[in-house]
Amino acid sequence: MVIRQSLEGRSILLIISGGIAAYKSLDLIRRLRERGARVRCVMSEAAQNFVTPMAVGALTGETVFTQLWDRDAEQDIGHIRLAREADLVIVAPATADLMAKMANGLANDLASTVLLAVSSPVLVAPAMNPAMWDHPATQRNADQLMADGILFTGPADGEMAESGEAGTGRMSEVMDIVTEAERVLDDRPKPLAGKRAVITSGPTREAIDPVRYISNHSSGKQGHAIAAALADAGADVILVSGPVTIDPPADVTVVDVVSAQDMADAVDRALPADIAVFVAAVADWRVSSQAPEKMKKDGSGQFPALDMVENPDILRGVAQRKENRPALVIGFAAETEKLEEHAKVKLAKKGADWIVANDVSEGVFGTDRNSVTLVTKGGAEKWPASSKDQVAMRLVERIAERFETVAV
Ligand SMILES: Cc1cc2nc3c(=O)[nH]c(=O)nc-3n(C[C@H](O)[C@H](O)[C@H](O)COP(=O)(O)O)c2cc1C
Repeated sequence: MVIRQSLEGRSILLIISGGIAAYKSLDLIRRLRERGARVRCVMSEAAQNFVTPMAVGALTGETVFTQLWDRDAEQDIGHIRLAREADLVIVAPATADLMAKMANGLANDLASTVLLAVSSPVLVAPAMNPAMWDHPATQRNADQLMADGILFTGPADGEMAESGEAGTGRMSEVMDIVTEAERVLDDRPKPLAGKRAVITSGPTREAIDPVRYISNHSSGKQGHAIAAALADAGADVILVSGPVTIDPPADVTVVDVVSAQDMADAVDRALPADIAVFVAAVADWRVSSQAPEKMKKDGSGQFPALDMVENPDILRGVAQRKENRPALVIGFAAETEKLEEHAKVKLAKKGADWIVANDVSEGVFGTDRNSVTLVTKGGAEKWPASSKDQVAMRLVERIAERFETVAV
């Protein structure tokens, strides 16, 4: 999987305090670094009972700061510089104790002193027993921290690691913390802010009987990449996805569907929208009536004849709507030959604004690369073969330009 370098060049100070969830901060360090961040860590004394500075240092590749009264560390960088050099400070896990210190401005160890000196955003991921979280003192402290502009992720509901007790207090999942960090540090322009986009992705499955279905090789990688790029550009995105094995992108609303009819219904419910992008490989036909029981061989040596009917044409249906037609309707066309010619016919026949024709003759399904031609009423433009993420970013740039130049 290609991981977007969303935190490239960013410096994150991770403060690990003494909760049982500290073991998850090791994974958090890895995920932040995978995305290009420099991660430096401060560990409270209590945290060192759960994970060692050695493990944290090995994963960050940096000095780990544990002491306020450390002459070498003070001369080398100093707690004030440590606080100031970070683009973002993450406290994960954040104990009830450290939250109490933060809420009251205490500075009696390195973690709390650094937290009092920071000027960058601070994101805390509380983790504690549900009774500790529910306690009026902790609730008061959390309210105070929010009023002070501290950002929160979690705590989540669920079972506690040590006691098995259920309630609110679990640390946010590591990837949720990463997503929140990406969101806080994302200073890219949002040209599609305020626009709503509906996008379909993946294959559909058309049932033959309770255990068999007709489908295709679509992985959903291109559609999901476009949904992610639209969300990055600030659009409010609804992703209608057929059955795929890839993770949904962050910051999009996912509607899972199975058949073409489900997908058509979900798209209908998602409208109105400003932008509709139909990337899913929708089955053209379905079996007219699914066998109620698993079909059996009849000894004739022949596959039983299936009565097939056409599925709804989602692209045409939306492109030709009289009411609530999105201002920009884009269809994808998988072609194995005469790419441009077929795409131009499809554009006219369906009434779409743009067709992105992709050349599937060389096995594009499931791979990370794509070779596409953008066909609009004004002409055709062949883009160089590139990664599906790059195709997505380029398409979203074009969509943003279109909304800049045409007042819609
Ligand atoms: C086994 C064990 C697990 C603990 N887990 C948590 C926890 O999940 N959350 C929490 O707020 N405190 C927890 N504590 C209590 C803190 O470690 C304690 O309040 C400590 O003083 C916190 O110090 P710090 O905030 O400087 O890291 C735990 C203590 C022990 C002994």
